[in-house]
Amino acid sequence: MKLASKDLLGIKELTKDEIILVLDTASGFKDVLKRDIKKVPALRGKTAVNLFFEPSTRTKTSFELAEKRLSLDVLNLAATTSSVVKGESLIDTALNVQALGADFMIIRHSSSGAPHLLSKHIAASVINAGDGVNEHPTQALLDAFTIKEKLGRLEGLKIAIIGDILHSRVAKSDIYLLTKFNDEVRLIGPPTLLSQELEALGVKVFHDMSEGLKDVNVVMMLRIQMERQGKGFFPSTLEYFRYWGLTPERLSIADKEAIVMHPGPMNRGIEIASEIADGPRSVILDQVTNGIAVRMAVLYLLAGVRE
Ligand code: CP
Repeated sequence: MKLASKDLLGIKELTKDEIILVLDTASGFKDVLKRDIKKVPALRGKTAVNLFFEPSTRTKTSFELAEKRLSLDVLNLAATTSSVVKGESLIDTALNVQALGADFMIIRHSSSGAPHLLSKHIAASVINAGDGVNEHPTQALLDAFTIKEKLGRLEGLKIAIIGDILHSRVAKSDIYLLTKFNDEVRLIGPPTLLSQELEALGVKVFHDMSEGLKDVNVVMMLRIQMERQGKGFFPSTLEYFRYWGLTPERLSIADKEAIVMHPGPMNRGIEIASEIADGPRSVILDQVTNGIAVRMAVLYLLAGVRE
């Protein structure tokens, strides 16, 4: 089986079988990453360019490691040091990068739809590393991989996604993915940070943590995205933590084996207490580790489509 598209733009466009293919392929790469020599020659001779127009720690470094583990040649282009600051358009930048021989362009951009625009203009594989408030597909894939690894299955779970859902591309990709696997997805947060558009996707909405967390298998916290919030969506961070922050007391409402996830970066003491973030139920750093194998799988499978 192959992926249908040369690009990974979002989870919305993937079938359940394609998601399973990515996760199974990632599982093989995770074994490779446990070896002394973690590098394979699978994509030797090909070139990946990482175009990050927004800051990133986890996604950028794990794409770069994934590319290097697959023996790709890797170029990094940051908006602040490129000719974008002189007014060059996104498409012209991408066409020039393609002229240099790029086979893959991994793009993070503050505008929703930027990767989709690129995919129409260039032959290289475009991978969405997070576009505005739209999607972050590789984060959802690594979240799914981590859930399956920790709980042994991906279907039939109760999963709570908590916080700034309105501004979260991670939440959207996770909702698209988990609903394809018949999970019960619960969105919890203040009404101002939930969108009616998402409520139409077959999720359950709660505004009270003690109701929404009852018996859930996965507690997925989201970052409060101050930089995307043009106005006050809640009175203060102190109030936010009081009502929607994850504390040991609130975690005890979830299933006793429930895992705690966060895509990062975390605001400790605002959406999550440090004792939870660093506690035994947290799989937050496992998510980061799994990002490498998942991104290797995506690059490898997209290369298969192009050939
Ligand atoms: N999860 C995530 O996208 O983190 P970064 O912004 O650090 O890449």
